[in-house]
Amino acid sequence: MNELAMELNKALTGTNVYEMLSDYGKRMYVPNGIVLQSAEAKQKAKRYNATIGTALEGGVSMYMPSVKSLFSEELSPAEIFAYSPMGGNARLRELWAEEMREKNPTLRGKKTTLPIVCGGLTSALSLAFSLFADKGDSVVLPDLYWENYNLIIDEQREAKKVLFDMFTPGGNFNVEGLKNAVLSVKKDKVLVILNFPNNPTGYTPTQTEAKAICAALTDIAESGKKLVVFSDDAYFGLFFEDDVNRESLFATLCDASPNLLAIKCDGATKEEMAWGFRIAFLTYGFKDATEEALNALTKKTLGSVRGSFSNCSTPAQSILLRAMQGPTYVEEKKAGVKKIGERYKILKDTLSRYKDNANLTPYPFNSGYFMSFHTACPAETLRQHLLNVYETGSICVGEHVLRLAFSSVDADKIESLVSTVYQAAEDVCKG
Ligand SMILES: Cc1ncc(COP(=O)(O)O)c(C=O)c1O
Repeated sequence: MNELAMELNKALTGTNVYEMLSDYGKRMYVPNGIVLQSAEAKQKAKRYNATIGTALEGGVSMYMPSVKSLFSEELSPAEIFAYSPMGGNARLRELWAEEMREKNPTLRGKKTTLPIVCGGLTSALSLAFSLFADKGDSVVLPDLYWENYNLIIDEQREAKKVLFDMFTPGGNFNVEGLKNAVLSVKKDKVLVILNFPNNPTGYTPTQTEAKAICAALTDIAESGKKLVVFSDDAYFGLFFEDDVNRESLFATLCDASPNLLAIKCDGATKEEMAWGFRIAFLTYGFKDATEEALNALTKKTLGSVRGSFSNCSTPAQSILLRAMQGPTYVEEKKAGVKKIGERYKILKDTLSRYKDNANLTPYPFNSGYFMSFHTACPAETLRQHLLNVYETGSICVGEHVLRLAFSSVDADKIESLVSTVYQAAEDVCKG
């Protein structure tokens, strides 16, 4: 094993997090080569700096004027063309951390790593999984989950999903089911992934449910299991009901137990309506974490960043940072959430008119971009019928689960969308 990896492992020895690392995670380190030597030269090489593999002219990035002209004059060439540091733009990372604490008051005063910039939440999730999941490890998650987890968990890591029914028959989040699923894993280490607001259901636990989830996971960790708990907060902030838990579970879990490593994946993708920017963040926390241990975790992650996507788009980070510092950012963001909330409200009202319809039963939803139906007839048949006969797109996410993205349909079309889906279900179920 590389000596630098061994040093990082030493910094983590004695913490339970060391034992949670995958073999790959144990081998990870930040190389002492090009990146660090270039950083050193940036400080000291006052005469000539012949280190970094970019083209400079007078110390400034060379660029094509036709490309530069497509950006605002406000952005300097460095903000557009230069490589971004491995963990991302330092000021953006700090600002994201500050905002995270504002959005999650429970986090205030708690120690976490500084968010590391990744290429979208997918890359943050995939990277963190590679650091903590080995072949054959178990990953607990609700039975209604984002399809892409299959690629990350099953195919990339060859880990095993352990599913539990997301809802109780009464329509609450199934905390007992989560608990039993975690306890059913024989191995000491269990990974858990919780995504709220959820894709595909659009459900976020109530405050009472969120407390119960955190308490259950903390109890299990305190009784000896090593838990790696991912909060996939892709749709954070899109909360449309008063009793919904408006903080990330990470805020509570990041100092719940030395046996519980909390991992937060969040980002600009949906929160800042910047889907194509590919900017997300990865943050860690665990109880009694020392600076040294958090630093080692960060470095292992940076090593993995370096060995995969290396660094993220500079213009996307610069634009996001400038926007976040701008005077209208908060208001504009609120306006976006309000618009989706209006669609949510119309959808809820419209669905209430169909509540006795046995063909389609909406799963509970209160947030996010989506809602899903349990379908009496096969969901794929219904999807195809909707598409071929009614020119209406939806997603089949399970044998009997059909997902609608109300986020992508204008408010004045929601009622008609719902009546079309019910009409199609009537055709298919009767036929
Ligand atoms: C639950 C969930 N997590 C993560 C992502 C991925 O986000 P990104 O586009 O930033 O990779 C999505 C996107 O659809 C999602 O639904």
